[in-house]
Amino acid sequence: MCGIVGYVGPKQATPILLGGLRRLEYRGYDSAGVAVVGSRGAQVLRCRGKLAGLEAMVQREMPEGTLGIGHTRWATHGRPSEANAHPHKVGSVSVVHNGIIENYLPLRARLETSGRKFSSETDTEIVAHLIDESLLGGAPSLVEALRVALRQVHGAYALVAISDKHPGEIVAAKNASPLVLGLGKGETFLASDVPAILEHTREVVFLDEGDVVQVTADGATITDVEGKPRQRPARSIEWDAAAAEKGGYPHFMLKEIHEQPRAITDTLRGRLLLEDRDADLEGFEVDVRNLRRVLIIACGTSYHAGLVGKFMIEGTARVPVEVDLASEFRYRDPVVGAGDLVIAISQSGETADTLAAVKEARARGARVLAISNVVDSAIPRSSNGVLYTHAGPEIGVASTKCFTAQLAALSLIAIHLGRRTGKLAPDAAAKLVEELALTPTKMTEALEALGDMKQLAREYRYAKDFLFLGRGTNYPIALEGALKLKEISYIHAEGYAAGEMKHGPIALVDDGVPVVVLAPQGPGYEKVLSNLAEVRARNGEIIGVGTKGDQQLANLCDRVLSIPDAPALLQPFLTVLPLQLMSYAIAVAKGNDVDQPRNLAKSVTVE
Ligand code: AGP
Repeated sequence: MCGIVGYVGPKQATPILLGGLRRLEYRGYDSAGVAVVGSRGAQVLRCRGKLAGLEAMVQREMPEGTLGIGHTRWATHGRPSEANAHPHKVGSVSVVHNGIIENYLPLRARLETSGRKFSSETDTEIVAHLIDESLLGGAPSLVEALRVALRQVHGAYALVAISDKHPGEIVAAKNASPLVLGLGKGETFLASDVPAILEHTREVVFLDEGDVVQVTADGATITDVEGKPRQRPARSIEWDAAAAEKGGYPHFMLKEIHEQPRAITDTLRGRLLLEDRDADLEGFEVDVRNLRRVLIIACGTSYHAGLVGKFMIEGTARVPVEVDLASEFRYRDPVVGAGDLVIAISQSGETADTLAAVKEARARGARVLAISNVVDSAIPRSSNGVLYTHAGPEIGVASTKCFTAQLAALSLIAIHLGRRTGKLAPDAAAKLVEELALTPTKMTEALEALGDMKQLAREYRYAKDFLFLGRGTNYPIALEGALKLKEISYIHAEGYAAGEMKHGPIALVDDGVPVVVLAPQGPGYEKVLSNLAEVRARNGEIIGVGTKGDQQLANLCDRVLSIPDAPALLQPFLTVLPLQLMSYAIAVAKGNDVDQPRNLAKSVTVE
């Protein structure tokens, strides 16, 4: 959580820091702040709430200086407030931090005993005290003072510090939270994520665990915590800053919903082998003779993609698949080991629970294949292999294009395993490969036909509760539809397996509860219609999602949202689209902040 940015060079730092923070605000927006070193040391400006508040402060009084650090916060230790906002300045030292210092309580007690006064409730302020203490104690340089501090703290951090006494340099450290170095001409940047600095430079270095960096306008020196030099290759980023902007849409989420056909095409490109009726996992080998089971671990929307993946992989490879929430898996003393293929799905590649689950699985002997959208993020780096989704940066907090891109990656794995276990016959493989290749076109068709859903949103925006029902591959989509609505519309919603309604949830149905029923034609269609009739008999208001031209469904529903026909395994690519659009339209109709819903952050790097 939290976004960090740093700059040193010839230009005024404040506008560069604010521009970077704007692109990082998806990581948290409980408070924002900058510290810019001018002639009288670092001037710190901080405010509670979104970046707009800080921007207004800067309008009134812009801190002058060509070196600075900035932060946008997702609160962990200490409530959202100005006092808890970063940067934290102690003596000459200002610090910003993303992560958690786990042993902050004993450290704080020790520092207080030695007479130090704290002005916030955060764990981060500890680090500023430790660096200041070390400088006052005679540390020969700022970077050495940082190393002294790092030897005392445990936890996850991307830390960036400056000191009034060392006006030309920034120091930083990374352990389990992302940090990227940007190398410009006569200027150097630090950021939690590439889009924050992309308008200034394309040359970046992804810092690795345990890296300690000393940054000046001329570049950076990377060492470990003992001061031993480390080499990290610079890489050139191909996508441009505009790719991370809204591209004419009012919100990132809407842009990202409409980018899905392209995201799927890019994710399948070069990997879906039409002629060979196969899929290439880019060198990741699976020994199917010794494959006992597939275990999928993920959180949130990625978990829902995993639930669809179970249908896909069991359907093609006939290998048992279990799907687990990463936050449960890691604390359960899980039965996992050699013979298990673990697939870890994470859009951000940084989710703390999924990362810990990956480490747990590997420690117990399983091989781990990551699916992620962020190159070189922690989860891919901690896995045996990775299949990247090529969705492009996803800025809206509610995941859309990364979800369907994850489905595309899972389809590739399913085809690959099915061919190697021999359970997916060549003809069936040919049909599936062909259908998958057609999916982006069908998604475009569906998005065009569904339109903006403004009318529907006007009717349902005052609903207090929603139910989503689906069977088979559409059960996970019912869960995903409910999650999307909760996240951005703040309407209570539940997803159920349609057959489970009669075992309890049907008691919730009355004329005030809209029920979204996923009923595309295919296996289970007749059964879903029966479940739908049960809801109708209790006066439920029904929104059906069905195959284009299905009159039978239309006769049973108050409204139908149509999608093109597709085989059951691939229907989720299409059935999720009306649910994403509907949640978006309702959130807009309610005047909610669609891209940055309350209490949420884009990547959840705390447990
Ligand atoms: C999705 O809309 C959510 N914001 C959230 O559930 C997310 O999918 C979850 O936190 C997992 O994130 P990851 O894919 O980056 O690991």
